[in-house]
Amino acid sequence: VTTDISVRLGPLRLRNPVITASGTFGYGVEYAELMDVSRLGGISVKGISLAPRKGNPPPRICETPCGMLNSIGLANIGYDAFVGQTLPRLRELGATVIVNTYGTSADEFAELARRFDSVQGVAALEVNISCPNVKQGGIHFGVAPEPAAAVTRAVRAATRLPVIVKLSPEAADLVGVARAVADAGADAISLINTIRGMSIDVETRRPRLGAGIGGLSGPAIRPIAVRMVYEVHRAVGVPLIGIGGIAGLRDALEFFLAGASAVQVGSASYTNPRTALDLVEALERYCEERRITPAELVGAVVSGD
Ligand SMILES: Cc1cc2nc3c(=O)[nH]c(=O)nc-3n(C[C@H](O)[C@H](O)[C@H](O)COP(=O)(O)O)c2cc1C
Repeated sequence: VTTDISVRLGPLRLRNPVITASGTFGYGVEYAELMDVSRLGGISVKGISLAPRKGNPPPRICETPCGMLNSIGLANIGYDAFVGQTLPRLRELGATVIVNTYGTSADEFAELARRFDSVQGVAALEVNISCPNVKQGGIHFGVAPEPAAAVTRAVRAATRLPVIVKLSPEAADLVGVARAVADAGADAISLINTIRGMSIDVETRRPRLGAGIGGLSGPAIRPIAVRMVYEVHRAVGVPLIGIGGIAGLRDALEFFLAGASAVQVGSASYTNPRTALDLVEALERYCEERRITPAELVGAVVSGD
């Protein structure tokens, strides 16, 4: 018998607090041969848009010190293929599915939420607000409180599913954005998404990504993400999901102590696809040995400032 490490994030209950991060674990089904994906706390699938998207020109990823850059450009199979083909398979596998959604207007996010509301096998929606609002000059929804709140309100009104809003670290006032999405009805907040970066091949003098600029992820961003979770936790009451460079137990514990109720494993799955599952087992052992629950660790950092 293993220790109960289940967690509750508002209306969302997970068998454990370890989720694979969107875009770094495909649609989950790709990993079914390697592991029992039903043992993960959840799988946040690659961001789904209404229509399929091809994404950016290659190369789309490159390695950097302690991390990686990506410019996938939100390539995905689109709503119809996901719901028709992928979701039934995920249900068969017993996976806890968190659907990461991507839209270019509040209406598009709301339409996705409305559609997912009536399909079986979705545990929650994760709203990726780190994407351009085409109706307002391409400014990302996530950079300011008002557009972030507008998307959250629209999604909230369109679904009964738990709504997780995923913050962009590019916001000048991250705590302000967090407060705004909480007030607009988010059940939980996940943070952080990638931070824009660039790398140049000095021989060819070309950017190493086809799109030029991309998103930085991996251990390089972990201290930034921990700080952001800490600041948001102190200011906002909704449960948080910490993301950024998590590769093992100690990394996850840092996020719990800073104020996260659950964590997501992103880029680390590229190096070892079992990272998230290994973390589940390590966390079970840790909690069993110390006779504690993950919830007791949340926000338990001593002092700080
Ligand atoms: C290749 C790649 C694709 C990603 N695609 C998405 C996406 O579709 N939607 C999203 O919200 N985040 C996406 N992300 C961001 C991750 O979910 C995560 O927030 C970020 O990588 C930080 O976590 P990490 O340092 O553990 O990788 C992507 C990240 C990578 C590396």
